[in-house]
Amino acid sequence: MKFPKKVLLLLWAWAGLEIAAEVIVSDSTCTVTPLGSGDDTPQIKKAFQQCATNSHIVFQEGTYNIRQVMEFTNLKNVSIDIYGKWVWSADNLQYWISNTLPVTYASLHTGWKLGGTDIALRGHGKALFDGNGQAWIDENRDGSNRRGRPINLTLWHATNVLVDGITWRQSQFWHIFSAYCKNVTLTNLDMRTRSNSRWSAVNTDGIDTWNSEDITIRNWTVECYDDCISVKGNSKNIDVRNVTCYESGCAVIGSLGNGNGPDNIDNVLFQDFKCNHSSNAAWIKTYPGQGRVRNVTFRNFEFSDVNQPIYVTPCIYSGQGCDSSRLPIEDITWSNIKGTSRYNVAAGMHCSSAAPCKNFKFEDIDIRPKAGGTAKVLCSNIRNQADMGLTCTGSCPANWPQELNGNR
Ligand SMILES: *[C@@H]1O[C@H](CO)[C@@H](O)[C@H](O)[C@H]1NC(C)=O
Ligand SMILES: *[C@@H]1O[C@H](CO)[C@@H](O)[C@H](O)[C@H]1NC(C)=O
Ligand SMILES: *[C@@H]1O[C@H](CO)[C@@H](O)[C@H](O)[C@H]1NC(C)=O
Ligand SMILES: *[C@@H]1O[C@H](CO)[C@@H](O)[C@H](O)[C@H]1NC(C)=O
Ligand SMILES: *[C@@H]1O[C@H](CO)[C@@H](O)[C@H](O)[C@H]1NC(C)=O
Ligand SMILES: *[C@@H]1O[C@H](CO)[C@@H](O)[C@H](O)[C@H]1NC(C)=O
Ligand SMILES: *[C@@H]1O[C@H](CO)[C@@H](O)[C@H](O)[C@H]1NC(C)=O
Repeated sequence: MKFPKKVLLLLWAWAGLEIAAEVIVSDSTCTVTPLGSGDDTPQIKKAFQQCATNSHIVFQEGTYNIRQVMEFTNLKNVSIDIYGKWVWSADNLQYWISNTLPVTYASLHTGWKLGGTDIALRGHGKALFDGNGQAWIDENRDGSNRRGRPINLTLWHATNVLVDGITWRQSQFWHIFSAYCKNVTLTNLDMRTRSNSRWSAVNTDGIDTWNSEDITIRNWTVECYDDCISVKGNSKNIDVRNVTCYESGCAVIGSLGNGNGPDNIDNVLFQDFKCNHSSNAAWIKTYPGQGRVRNVTFRNFEFSDVNQPIYVTPCIYSGQGCDSSRLPIEDITWSNIKGTSRYNVAAGMHCSSAAPCKNFKFEDIDIRPKAGGTAKVLCSNIRNQADMGLTCTGSCPANWPQELNGNR
């Protein structure tokens, strides 16, 4: 189909107002200009419909107001360039709570689903996504996975995707969720969600990967008060490098093992990380469920003031069934891990006695308490403990906490 040189689209806002917005379609390029007020969602949807295949979509500079969920899951060979600021509305939380789109995982929901094949989303260092997260943080009141609280951007059944050069501020919930994706590259991203009220920014993870493979992450800076890079069930071939995390869980395997089927994790590399003032640095958390964690490397970590840098648990959150978990954790390497712990514990690792951890390897571990002295390494049920390259100073009880509140 040949597009006319210019098409003026008349868009009808859902409130019944008539708004004339120009989505200019020309030679398989849709160019969108922000309205300046009201709701830009209809014209954004129009652009994604008109330019869903072998196309290019350009969002010019300015502020776009997003008042409705967006679902564009059939894109084919589309390159999207965002030069403007996208602001998700916060005066209609009830709308979002009732209308966000389910993402299957843990009954969570999202405000924006993007899927298809051969998709490039570039922000050129200019795109800014503002989730108005403070409103969600306050509404959530330190709660956990509040239903309807939207994940910002969900890559859903997407293959061959590039996301580059976008800044996020105040995300409503997880910044990015990758579900059922293959071959996704996420580079040069900057995320920060920080609460300025008495309530904490709970569950504003940087990214969570789930049922996804061949994911490459490079050069991120994240301040998020929850897990920074979190690799969840059925993630495979995840290569993450050059990430700086502030106030977060830093590099995380998990949670996993709480789904219906087995949760497997294979071949993960976390390399060149900085973790500043964080809860943990290089750690693994599972439920006592089904699946396995195999072949994970944490390499070149530098950190300061991390509550418990290395932590392994088979019974996260509940602390129940720690020794009956049959979810194996094996072939895990920690190499060149350096920094200061908040208290006198460098590592707390309790593996299930029913499925002891296998083939743990440590090289160049230098973790010192920030107040000086030596840090403890607590270990239980690691099969190759004697030759793993790190000396355990004591055993680690079941239900050992993820975060400590003083020296032990
Ligand atoms: C992908 O879309 C671009 C236009 O954005 C087009 O030039 C190119 O030929 C398309 N590639 C394929 C394989 O169709
Ligand atoms: C995603 O977050 C950005 C910034 O954090 C915000 O502008 C945008 O509205 C959010 N989008 C959705 C769908 O939540
Ligand atoms: C992976 O996706 C990128 C686009 O981000 C593409 O250039 C590359 O060819 C894809 N790789 C494979 C093996 O399809
Ligand atoms: C790394 O990402 C930041 C944005 O967070 C960007 O400003 C910087 O240019 C990137 N560095 C490289 C080497 O691409
Ligand atoms: C690594 O990340 C830092 C911090 O974002 C950035 O300044 C630097 O340019 C990045 N290097 C590469 C090679 O991406
Ligand atoms: C283990 O994971 C690394 C990536 O960190 C990969 O290069 C290697 O091939 C994997 N090993 C096996 C045996 O699959
Ligand atoms: C941690 O981050 C803060 C704020 O950016 C900075 O002042 C401090 O020097 C950082 N600490 C380390 C050890 O990087």
